[in-house]
Amino acid sequence: MSILIINIKQLLQVHDSNVTIVKGDAMKNLPIIENAYVYINHDTIIEYGKMEDYRPIEADTVIDATGKIVLPSWCDSHTHVVYAGDRTSEFVDRINGLSYAEIANKGGGILNSAKKLQDTSEDDLFEQSIKRLNELIAMGSGAVEIKTGYGLTTEAELKMLRVIKRIKQESLAKIIPTLLAAHAIPEEFKSKKQDYIKYITEELIPQAAKLNITHYVDVFCEEGYFDIKDTEAILEAGKKHNLRPKIHVNQFNILGGIALGVKHNALSVDHLEELNDDDIEALKGSDTISVALPGCSYFISIPYTPARKIIDAGLPLAIATDYNPGTAPSGNMNFVVSAACVKLKLTPEEAINAATINGAYAMGISNMYGSITRGKKANLIITKPMNHYSEIPYAFAHNPIEQVIINGQLL
Ligand code: NIG
Ligand code: FE
Repeated sequence: MSILIINIKQLLQVHDSNVTIVKGDAMKNLPIIENAYVYINHDTIIEYGKMEDYRPIEADTVIDATGKIVLPSWCDSHTHVVYAGDRTSEFVDRINGLSYAEIANKGGGILNSAKKLQDTSEDDLFEQSIKRLNELIAMGSGAVEIKTGYGLTTEAELKMLRVIKRIKQESLAKIIPTLLAAHAIPEEFKSKKQDYIKYITEELIPQAAKLNITHYVDVFCEEGYFDIKDTEAILEAGKKHNLRPKIHVNQFNILGGIALGVKHNALSVDHLEELNDDDIEALKGSDTISVALPGCSYFISIPYTPARKIIDAGLPLAIATDYNPGTAPSGNMNFVVSAACVKLKLTPEEAINAATINGAYAMGISNMYGSITRGKKANLIITKPMNHYSEIPYAFAHNPIEQVIINGQLL
């Protein structure tokens, strides 16, 4: 199966060499070819260039993209797509003035989702979750990280991992599973948190690692959840099983989780709605990427990640949806790219870099995803007709996408 796309108005994020991350000022640069073609065979990008240099290529399918933009699919590096039911009642509580912490304290929040998930069969959980994932794919996401974390028991976490594995097998999208081992403290451990840490480090993580589904470990490092000491114990336990950290930090409070993540060579530190100069210093010179989640800030009305501070310090930034039932019930990366421009003050070029190549980096897959490069996987978005790629973030809450190609297949 081969596909040739011709007469592309603008082909975005084109790199002849295999770039795997863009940092700081370089994020302002989005390499494009005007009036371009791209040729893919099976699951791979084979060739691209200017139409004036185009020499006829035989292909099973030819798409005339006159007036349209083609770009790499979105790489959504932070989601909780696997969950059961929803939390609409908490949404109403929040409108009526309750905070995230107040809702959690009255039995809502993560514990609410965990109860629902524990009571849902594996098949049902799979059906609910793959339906969500298919919606994300239609909205342009071609690579998606999926976390566990609504299990809170070994049994339920393993159930989540098996569901993610099944999604990975059945979906064309690239799926990166993450073990969010420590997401909240179950009611029965409320007064004996150390016993729960022991349970996670000595039972849950070793058993989960045995399934060999994930390479990453996550922790919700936050007041009322897991403090620095707890987080370190969990990261150490993960390390014993070759799990690299990708962690929730600085969502509501600064506890020093960013420096801790860097110390443990985290692939990413995510949220960062609260951020100080020490955090920025800790990130400098590291291989850890910051991930901003503007959909979460929007939905629960908390500050937006000071993304300018991050980029202007020469650091890389990725953006992701955080799709989850509590703080971001939307997996629409087009909205995230727009919110990054409007609220995080990224230029369209920076936002597209953050949502493609840097998103791929935050999942450890940027050698094969996130740019139009010969030999990389054929995950592409073809937009509706538009004058310029800036219309993608400009026309917020519109659907800019006409067609998607995932793993070389036109959907
Ligand atoms: O990324 N902050 C922790 N985890 C999720 C929210 C989980 C929930 O409320 O269900 C997040 O915002
Ligand atoms: Fe999250």
